[in-house]
Amino acid sequence: MAYVRKTIDIAKIKEQEAICAEIFERVAGDGQRPLAMVDTYGCQQNEADSEKLRGYLAAMGYGFTQDEFQADVIVVNTCAVREHAEMRVLGNVGALTHSKKARPGQIIAVCGCMVQQEHMAEKIKKSYPVVDLVFGPHELWRFPELMKRFMDSHKRVFATARDDGAVAEGIPLRRDGKVKAWLSIMYGCNNYCTYCVVPYVRGRERSRQPEDVVAEARQLVAEGYKDITLLGQNVNSYGKDLGIGVDFADLLRMVNDIPGDFIIRFMTSHPKDATEKLFKTMAECSKCAHHIHLPVQAGSDRVLKAMNRSYNREKYLSEIETARRYMPDLVLTTDIIVGFPGETEEEFNETLSLCEQVRYDAMFTFIYSKRVGTPAAKMPDPYTRADKQKHFDRLMELSNRISGEKHAEYEGRTLRVLIDGETGKDEYNLSSRTGGGRLVHLKGDPKLVGQFVQAKITASNTWALYGEIVEE
Ligand code: 5AD
Ligand code: SF4
Repeated sequence: MAYVRKTIDIAKIKEQEAICAEIFERVAGDGQRPLAMVDTYGCQQNEADSEKLRGYLAAMGYGFTQDEFQADVIVVNTCAVREHAEMRVLGNVGALTHSKKARPGQIIAVCGCMVQQEHMAEKIKKSYPVVDLVFGPHELWRFPELMKRFMDSHKRVFATARDDGAVAEGIPLRRDGKVKAWLSIMYGCNNYCTYCVVPYVRGRERSRQPEDVVAEARQLVAEGYKDITLLGQNVNSYGKDLGIGVDFADLLRMVNDIPGDFIIRFMTSHPKDATEKLFKTMAECSKCAHHIHLPVQAGSDRVLKAMNRSYNREKYLSEIETARRYMPDLVLTTDIIVGFPGETEEEFNETLSLCEQVRYDAMFTFIYSKRVGTPAAKMPDPYTRADKQKHFDRLMELSNRISGEKHAEYEGRTLRVLIDGETGKDEYNLSSRTGGGRLVHLKGDPKLVGQFVQAKITASNTWALYGEIVEE
């Protein structure tokens, strides 16, 4: 059946808000403000989803806590990308029996990518009776309705039907900070990399309308946010489903045209459709960070093909060359999977040599994790976990060395940075980011949080830079 982009009628979101108001009446009845805890695992997209969950919970009258023994509602927003994250979720959800015992009537919800997988929803149904409410990413927009259903019936609610997904506008948001903001521009993924579970749990690629994205960005700027990250599983295919001739580079320019002093970042990009137009636009847009997170995943053409990545080493390297031609100061980061089924010593060495060649500012490295239902799960894999760990350690060593060397190159330079928070430490009490997104620790007045300053870099290590404010 042909795919049709679905949107949730705004009237339906208004209905959800009316349900929030009903719940508000109910839970705020005894005069004491009820509390909710939202626990988030995984990627930035999940962080952004949790801001919607908090938006709805605030509309239902809940305040927020980090203590499960104080919470009347606990929402665990889960990740399915690797087994490790799932094991942590299950361990922590199992432990909630204690808080529920201490606080009868506590409502426990588990949502997000992990429970969108049938076998995981089943597992929770059978083995985690402490969980009252289970819903996948496609049902998030009707979280209030699901809450109400449970509150009315006290029967467990499971809403995890398979779905291509939709775009829902108008969900209330409660953002975490005041300086940096996530802005989802699209949802889902069509790429079907053979190791990855995301396309199965997050549905088809679907873009928000550019005017909705721009209106939200404008609002953020008006509220004083200084660092906006445009989010999508693969932002480079933004707009393809809209059929209105607007691509990601065009969207970037529209956001850049919003008056105000702020930085635009984005993630994640897929190398298969990162275009010269994008690099040129990044270079031309004064507010766009000169940073691109361009996951390469592997350095061997055979492995890249088996991963269904749709590019080879040569194409990737030539893209980097083009990007650096437009932005000589470009900060480059990547994701790498070690130990994809059947990856040999020689193939792994090709990953090392690619990293030496590119010299990433930072690398996010992962040992391959088998995911139920993905094609890679059926591929022969003769190598042991110990073999993979050895490769992983070598890659980490290389990554740390290169990051350290690249950071050392900043010493003595003066850069414009955005102070984004306090560290709680005495010596360097402020944290800030360069335009390229590198972390800089500074000492200064906490009132500077949210401001751009000039910082002279005085020291560095693998993870961060250290500096002093030279002009405010
Ligand atoms: N095993 C290990 N790493 C994975 N990633 C995605 N799926 C898997 C998996 N099955 C990594 C990729 C991706 C990042 C978000 O997570 O590197 O870019
Ligand atoms: Fe997963 Fe590949 Fe889609 Fe990224 S592009 S979410 S790795 S399928």
